[in-house]
Amino acid sequence: MKISRRAFLKTSVGAALAAGLPSFWTASAAAQSRHAVREFHFSASPARINLGTGPDFVAWTYNGQVPGPEIRVREGETIRVILKNYLPEATTIHWHGVPVPNAMDGVPGVTQPAVRPGGTFVYEFEARPAGTYIYHSHAKYQLDQGLYGPLVIEASPPRESYDREYSLMLEDWVMQDGGGISRTQRRPPMGMMGGMRHGRMRSPSPGGPLQEPFYDGYAVNGRVYPAISPLEVRPGERVKIRLMNASSATIYYLRLAGHPLTITHLDGQPVRPVETDVLRIGMGERYDVMLTADNPGSWLLAASEEGFGEGRLRVPLRYRGVRPQEPVPPTFRPGLRMATYQDFSAAGPPEGPADAAGRFYGQTLSGGMHSPFWSINGRLYPDAEWLTVRNGERVRLSYGNDSMMPHPMHLHGHFFQVVNPALPPNLWVTKDTVIVDPMQRLDIEFRADNPGHWFHHCHNLYHMEAGMANVVVYEGWG
Ligand code: C2O
Ligand code: CU
Repeated sequence: MKISRRAFLKTSVGAALAAGLPSFWTASAAAQSRHAVREFHFSASPARINLGTGPDFVAWTYNGQVPGPEIRVREGETIRVILKNYLPEATTIHWHGVPVPNAMDGVPGVTQPAVRPGGTFVYEFEARPAGTYIYHSHAKYQLDQGLYGPLVIEASPPRESYDREYSLMLEDWVMQDGGGISRTQRRPPMGMMGGMRHGRMRSPSPGGPLQEPFYDGYAVNGRVYPAISPLEVRPGERVKIRLMNASSATIYYLRLAGHPLTITHLDGQPVRPVETDVLRIGMGERYDVMLTADNPGSWLLAASEEGFGEGRLRVPLRYRGVRPQEPVPPTFRPGLRMATYQDFSAAGPPEGPADAAGRFYGQTLSGGMHSPFWSINGRLYPDAEWLTVRNGERVRLSYGNDSMMPHPMHLHGHFFQVVNPALPPNLWVTKDTVIVDPMQRLDIEFRADNPGHWFHHCHNLYHMEAGMANVVVYEGWG
């Protein structure tokens, strides 16, 4: 008879109770069967790494690896992460997308003091809801130094069927001139600092914000093509791929040669499936796609060359039994389908907004153009606006992007709906990070249902550190 681990644990608790075994055994087994605590030990420390091509360099890592170890748990289990800081700088971990209790959110100076070098902090929260997430440091430029990893909360019981699953974490690295952390320490050129002398512009960190580096290593799960082992599939399989963009400043346009991609989840939350040729994914966003393996061969999943040379991000996909050969790259040409937020609607029984928003905030995103600063409503974090909300109310944020750059805006502690005038509110898609394009207006709404102080910011790390952030504050909180 095959017995699942779960069933085994249940049985052994019963047996332990009956046999009067020592209480420590009974207690921990009981905890696992009813409300399992999954414990992880993370050491944040510098380590020498190699992306499979290019030089070795020093990165900041969890447990000596990039990305950090995968956290994979079932919905409803408790995640406990014991963080030890062996870095020369204070650090935290943020559970990007998971609506954790405020004290577990990992934002230095907002939800906790950063963990000092040599210090320890225990994060503990319930893994809910199911979905694809990212964890990462929220201190300074540490995200760009390697401190991030995948977090998957599996639905229990499973709500999808597939034959095979892959998680792909997309990363932008600097490899030239020593690579890694030494390259993320760059100050803007002197001329750029002129803006500081005018008006209220104040530097969020002494000496001004760092400039976005020039990336030359686009890695997937810590490897740069061609040093990536191919995703293997068999003809006829349904393959789930979780795409997670942990890059600090790169938006990708992805296409898989020989296959359309069927998008099933945005930021971990289910949508009515949409088939697309090109998938656009911003920093902090996650897309789950389903692939029907019906075109045997050797193919590349690759990013468009458009703009910045992201074409270097490549992942081979090979059908089992096909003899190894140069994978076929996708072509990017006009007329391809590229899904936009407005093409999606929420899946499943609508539990979305029923009442109208009672609180409105305009959020004007500006910056660039001869200034190293990026602002919301003209203000720079930490001199930022507080967006006050009352527990229980629905809140609308109306973004207007005045700048020439796209901004993936992320709200901590909540999911939000992307307002879509073409659909009834209960079909608006649920996300936690949304790209606001240059000169675009876009609205989101969320239910204020998780009291605390919640960070809200652009997920371009260099924009965030240059001021593009503020805080949603619940009335009566702290
Ligand atoms: Cu990925 Cu403030 O977060
Ligand atoms: Cu931005």
